[in-house]
Amino acid sequence: MKRVLLSLAALMLLTATVGRASEPENRPLYLNPDAPIEERVEDALSRMTLREKIAIIHAQSKFSAPGAPRLGIAELWCTDGPHGIRPEVLWDEWDQARWTNDSCTAYPALTCLAATWNRDAAKLYGVSIGEEARYREKDVLLGPGVNIYRTPLCGRNFEYMGEDPFLAAEMVVPYIQGVQEQGVAACVKHYALNNEEQHRHTTDVDLSDRALFEIYLPAFKAAVTEGKVWSIMGSFNKYRGTHACHNHRLLNEILKDNWGFDGAVISDWGGTHSTDEAIRNGLDLEFGSWTDGLREGASNAYDMYYMAQPYLERIERGEIGTEELDDKVRRVLRLTFRTAMNNDKPYGSMCNEAHTEAARHIGEEGVVLLKNANHNLPICPDAKRILVVGENAIKMMTVGGGSSSLKVKQEVSPLDGIKSYYAGRAEVIYARGYVGDVTGSYNGVVTGQDLRDKRSPKRLIEEAVELAGTADHVIFIGGLNKSEHQDCEGADRKGLELPYNQDDVIEALADASDHLTVVLITGNAVTMPWLERVESVVQGWYLGSESGNILASVLSGEVNPSGKLPFTFGHRLEDYGAHSDGAHFPNHDKVFYHDGIFVGYRGFEKRNIEPLFSFGHGLSYTSFDYSNLQLSKREICDGESIEVRLTVRNSGGCRGKEVVQLYVADCEASLPRPVKELKGFTKVDLEAGESTEVCFTIGRDALCYYDDIRGEWIAEAGEFKVMVGASSADIRLVESFMLR
Ligand code: BGC
Repeated sequence: MKRVLLSLAALMLLTATVGRASEPENRPLYLNPDAPIEERVEDALSRMTLREKIAIIHAQSKFSAPGAPRLGIAELWCTDGPHGIRPEVLWDEWDQARWTNDSCTAYPALTCLAATWNRDAAKLYGVSIGEEARYREKDVLLGPGVNIYRTPLCGRNFEYMGEDPFLAAEMVVPYIQGVQEQGVAACVKHYALNNEEQHRHTTDVDLSDRALFEIYLPAFKAAVTEGKVWSIMGSFNKYRGTHACHNHRLLNEILKDNWGFDGAVISDWGGTHSTDEAIRNGLDLEFGSWTDGLREGASNAYDMYYMAQPYLERIERGEIGTEELDDKVRRVLRLTFRTAMNNDKPYGSMCNEAHTEAARHIGEEGVVLLKNANHNLPICPDAKRILVVGENAIKMMTVGGGSSSLKVKQEVSPLDGIKSYYAGRAEVIYARGYVGDVTGSYNGVVTGQDLRDKRSPKRLIEEAVELAGTADHVIFIGGLNKSEHQDCEGADRKGLELPYNQDDVIEALADASDHLTVVLITGNAVTMPWLERVESVVQGWYLGSESGNILASVLSGEVNPSGKLPFTFGHRLEDYGAHSDGAHFPNHDKVFYHDGIFVGYRGFEKRNIEPLFSFGHGLSYTSFDYSNLQLSKREICDGESIEVRLTVRNSGGCRGKEVVQLYVADCEASLPRPVKELKGFTKVDLEAGESTEVCFTIGRDALCYYDDIRGEWIAEAGEFKVMVGASSADIRLVESFMLR
């Protein structure tokens, strides 16, 4: 409807200005979809009044900005993101609009996407979610998130792509391209350094430039320079004393000047705190600044935004010119012409079979088999009775967790997926095992599940153990969930352990069964004191609409698992660099990242700490041999590249996929460097007995470190090692070369 009104406004304008609206050649340049975008931008800008320029750079509702109705410049509509399209909320409120046609497909959480290590899966994700955004008339998808996994306590890690900058950078680019092909902007978030949640509005991060450029920014940089992303969301936290949403260094210097970002910087919802900083420091579009639009403003609370009336007044008083304003308006117009006013965009589609299939495929590629003793998995085809235990087998996980919460058309629970797979083949029985979080609503979306259970923890364990004695295979499905202090926005976890009394339940089941599989539904690492006593462990993530079907395929062996961990599982919290000094967590205000570049496996390896499960780890029902590593040269000069080739063979008994990982080590450097760093990966699909040649190119980027003092990337002469393997801890082949 709104779009229709805008078109009418444009038509009236045309009639008024040229009198012959039906003749396209007479329409204003900015309305001509075939004209170059930059010309359209300049033309539109030249016709806008000061008030129209101010209006277009801030919200008019919870998720929309007004465009310029007099000129027929369309509104911009945003939506969360990043795992599905958020249900419609009221104009000024977070509450549901109560539409009946806004249920979406929920795709697996981004941790799972990262665990696929499959760029094609990332593209498919982007295309599929982009089609749903487009169908719902959204112009900006608020995602994906690429904040680095610094601490396993961060409540929002499940929305991000893990601990490694190279992996996150490689996976974010195709996601963006897939979304933007639909005429919908991706909005990569949260730029930058939003690595914990509890006090996200006041946390003030400082860190070395080396850590900033080597660890925390590469995925954002790739999003801009390779993904050509059209918008970026500033984060809530501060960086060196200034909020990231209007931080001169992050936005003006790095993002816009150095990386050449030509899109719009959008504030996180309520992330703007100063008109003067917003004007000068690179914010382009302000959203969500703590108003419901009704109660807190004299006439219209959106006029009270930092980039609304206060900005206008400064210009009218002559305190500031319009140079910054014009730059912001240009960027918002560019975003609008690329999305809302892009006539070539496809129509999109919603909840179709292809989307269900995409969600399932991505999930099946991302599930990680962490442990599998005695070929316990896949579940033996002779199994006649399978016991499923645990709350996460039945709890809907698409509701909750903060802004990524969804209203789904369908969510197949793990229990239902397993039951439906085994229908007619085996009996599937269920025991609750423990009671965790029985709530089931977020912003008015309710799961409709009643998970209350009054039985004591002891009784629940007894029941599960009794049934375990009668079952051929026991699958415990637990982990975390989407309530506060678990995997949830706005708060952090309080410890690394599994919550509720899940460890006790697992120990008791281990006593009762010789075929116990533990499936962890989490977006974060947890401790596993029972690890030696269980046969199999599967990292199941939040898998979205197809959860149960995905898990059933992997557990039954219909799909051979091929996911690899995008972050390290440690034994203890102190094993992680961020917690190694025992510093207080969460941080209220100033925090210095003393762990520097030694985040994730870089930190574990530097301090020689054995992880519980290493970065890049993931097993298969088959096995792979690596051989014949060859480098195209033994010596190169700075700027030259090297070809790396090896053979990978499926040496087991069934078809499977393997993620071949390439790490580079700098053997002699004037600065401390990680033991090794991921610089390449590829996923191969091989029949039993089949071999393939895998090739990588090592370019200058793979050799450099960032020198804080000189402010540049340095490839330092000396010996480098090339390591290829199946995980960061399972290096199979090593060669070296010299950089002269
Ligand atoms: C979150 C963003 C989200 C926005 C809009 C904020 O609280 O940090 O990630 O896109 O809300 O819902």
